Amino acid sequence: MRKPQTFLQIFFLVIVLLLTSSSVLFSSIAHGATAIPDHVTLTWADDPRTTQTITWRTGVTTVGGQVEYAEVANTHSFLNNARVAAAGIAGLKTNLGDMAIHSVTLTGLKSGTRYVYRVGGPGCWSEPRIFTTASAAISGFKFLVFGDSQSINYDVWKSTIRNAYQAHPEAAFFANVGDLVDVGQDYNEWNNWFSAARGVIDTIPAMPITGNHETYTLERQFSMPVFFTAQFNLPPNGPERLKGQVYSFDYGDAHFVMLDSQAGEQAKFVPGMLSEQRIWLEKDLRMTNKKWKIAFIHRPLYNNKNTEANENIERVFRPLFDQYHVDVVFTGHDHVYSRTYPLRDGVRTDTSEKGTVYVASGRSGTKTYRNTISKDWNEFFYSPVDEPNYITVEVMGDVLTVKSFKQSGTLIDAWVIRKATK
Ligand SMILES: [Fe+2]
Repeated sequence: MRKPQTFLQIFFLVIVLLLTSSSVLFSSIAHGATAIPDHVTLTWADDPRTTQTITWRTGVTTVGGQVEYAEVANTHSFLNNARVAAAGIAGLKTNLGDMAIHSVTLTGLKSGTRYVYRVGGPGCWSEPRIFTTASAAISGFKFLVFGDSQSINYDVWKSTIRNAYQAHPEAAFFANVGDLVDVGQDYNEWNNWFSAARGVIDTIPAMPITGNHETYTLERQFSMPVFFTAQFNLPPNGPERLKGQVYSFDYGDAHFVMLDSQAGEQAKFVPGMLSEQRIWLEKDLRMTNKKWKIAFIHRPLYNNKNTEANENIERVFRPLFDQYHVDVVFTGHDHVYSRTYPLRDGVRTDTSEKGTVYVASGRSGTKTYRNTISKDWNEFFYSPVDEPNYITVEVMGDVLTVKSFKQSGTLIDAWVIRKATK
């Protein structure tokens, strides 16, 4: 008589276990975040020579996040010699449930030094990763630029970013020109985007800007790019109402200004955002004494589509790019790779000493356009419909070298700006 009872007990136990494990599984898939840290992201909210900002995600029950870090030279005793930094925490409500975003800026680091680090906390550490601080006196450096990565299949973004970093492991950081994802307020997109960038974004910092797609909601309405600003901890030096999405930073002898072209999408939330940026940008460019000035803005001042001229963007920013002689402006949105002749006041000039070169950065995801054309202002035009591309920028003393590659490594274009030695 005992056997059927035991059988029934085992049967019910199995059912309970199955239900429990499937509910755990379902909950982790539905919420996308667990106690295990993921989406580990490097940015610089402060000086690249002495600080490193690190951000990651967990489920909401995880609090008290920490970073353990040590110079690579000390890795043999990493656990004993590591310093500990406590992270701040902020909640993020998404369509995949509530999440916790942890972030901390490590300070007082040695310049030009490799550090090993891990994030999380006792019992839930990420695997160790390495970052490198900028040298105090940089003679030259290289960074990567990625065109729009919005995708149907983010494996394409994954192969683009991995191939780029594998081919240029000396890159100090990478920049995105906006439209990182297709629907900015759909967390499925960010899960895919961060998973694809893993191995690079936790090793060199990302310094991205927003595009129009970062403002889209699931209902195809507009919002502020809240998922973007929650997950990228960027220099808080922008205009008051655009902090976290408009900013500037220095690396070596270059000054970078990172702008926002989504005046239409954000008009309801930040009326007058272009004039606010113009006031900020004028002061920002006036204050810098860096040799090189490089700007990023999603919508192009000089576009490659039959329609959709962005005259409001050009009217606001071109006079300042001219006045303070910004050397290069990287843009997105058109999904082509192109560059203009050096332009001043919208007109072709003899040399880049007098004008600004505007670069359409191409695409690093799946989306291509067939309705793009070369315009009168273009010195070079290429539509990457066959495979995605990426850009390398090398700043070396008086010479700035830009190259565009197909993701498979084939060179598309190479060009140089030389500053006359004074
Ligand atoms: Fe766009």
